[in-house]
Amino acid sequence: MPTFVVETPRERYPVEVSRGALGSLAAHIPARAGKLFIVTTQDVWNLHAARMQSALGSRAFEVLLFPGGEERKRMASVEALADQMVQLGADRSSLVIAFGGGIAGDLGGFLAAIFMRGIPVIQVPTTLLAQVDAAVGGKTGANLVGGKNLIGAFHQPLAVLIDPDVLTTLPPREYRAGLFEVLKCGVIRSPGLFERMANDSAKVLAMDPAIVEEIIAESVRIKAEVVSADEKEGGLRRILNYGHTIGHALEAETQYKHLLHGEAVAFGMRAVGHLAQLTGVCEAADVRRMNDAISAYGELPSLAGITAGSLVARLGSDKKTIQGKVHFVLAESIGSVVVRSGIEERLIHEATGMALRELAAA
Ligand code: GLY
Repeated sequence: MPTFVVETPRERYPVEVSRGALGSLAAHIPARAGKLFIVTTQDVWNLHAARMQSALGSRAFEVLLFPGGEERKRMASVEALADQMVQLGADRSSLVIAFGGGIAGDLGGFLAAIFMRGIPVIQVPTTLLAQVDAAVGGKTGANLVGGKNLIGAFHQPLAVLIDPDVLTTLPPREYRAGLFEVLKCGVIRSPGLFERMANDSAKVLAMDPAIVEEIIAESVRIKAEVVSADEKEGGLRRILNYGHTIGHALEAETQYKHLLHGEAVAFGMRAVGHLAQLTGVCEAADVRRMNDAISAYGELPSLAGITAGSLVARLGSDKKTIQGKVHFVLAESIGSVVVRSGIEERLIHEATGMALRELAAA
C-alpha cells in the first residue's frame, strides 16, 4: 500500500498507509530524540499496547493517559499532560507519539506544539476518522466552551503511520462516524471515491479489507494534496471543512457529549447540501444522491430539542467566521465544491431546518 507525502513550505513528511504500518515507527524516530511520550487513552492502550511495545522494541517510553471524550479536549488536559512530562524529566529533545483517535491526535499534537515552545510529534491514528482526516495536516488544538478547536496551533508531525488493521477493534458507531469524513472527501474532490461509497456501502460497512484500504488511501491522498497546496487554510484547505461549520455548531450545542465528530459532520453535510440547492449552486438530483449516500451509513442519534435557530446562532463563534462573515463550502456537483460567504441567514436557517426535519422523519 502507498506512502503519501505532505510537503509544506517548511516541512516534508510521509503518511504511510499499510497493514502493520506501526512496525516502521522506530525508523521515523530521529537518532537525536530523547525521551518518548505516548499520549493516549486507557481504552486505546488496553487494545493496542502490545503493537506499540513491539514497534518500539527495547526503546524506553512513558505512557501519558488522558480521559477520552470530546468534552475533555480542553486546555486543562493539555496542561495536565505537560505537568506529567515535566515530572517525568521531559526536555527539548523529547518526542510525543499521539496514539489514538482524533482527540489524542489533537491534544498530543497541541502538547507537542507548545511544550518548551515545540517538540516533535509522530501521529499514529487508531480510528478511521483520525486516519483519513485529523492525523494528517498538522492541525492541533483544544475546545473552548464557546466553540470547537478555538485554541490550537499548526504543528506538522514527523510522520503519520496508518494501519487499517487497528480498525477491526473499533466500535461500529465510531467506524461509521469516520466513514462520513471519507464521504466528505468524495464530495469535495473525488467522484470515484463518492461512487465507491455510494454503491458499495454494504461492503464498506462490513469492513471488506480491500475496500477499506482503498477508501483510506484515496482520502489520505486528497488530504495530503490539499494540505501541501495550502497548509494554513488560506484558500484551498477550506474545502476540507465541508459540512463542518454547521457540524461544529451542533457539537457545541450538544456540549460535545451527544454526537461523535463524524456524525455532526454528516448532519452538516446534509444541511449544506440543502443550502447548495437553495442558493442555486447544486442540482436537486446531486443533493439527493449525497443525502442518500449519507443515509446509507446509518442515522444519527436523535436531535430532538435542537432547533435551526440555536445552530444558526452559534455560527458566529466558529473560527471559520471572519469579520462576522460565515463561509460555507458548497457542492456544485459531486467532486467539486466552492466557498461562499454572505449567504442570507434565512436560507441557512431553512437548510438547517430541512436537515433536522429529515432526521426526525427517518
Ligand atoms: N480537518 C480539516 C483540516 O484538516 O483542514
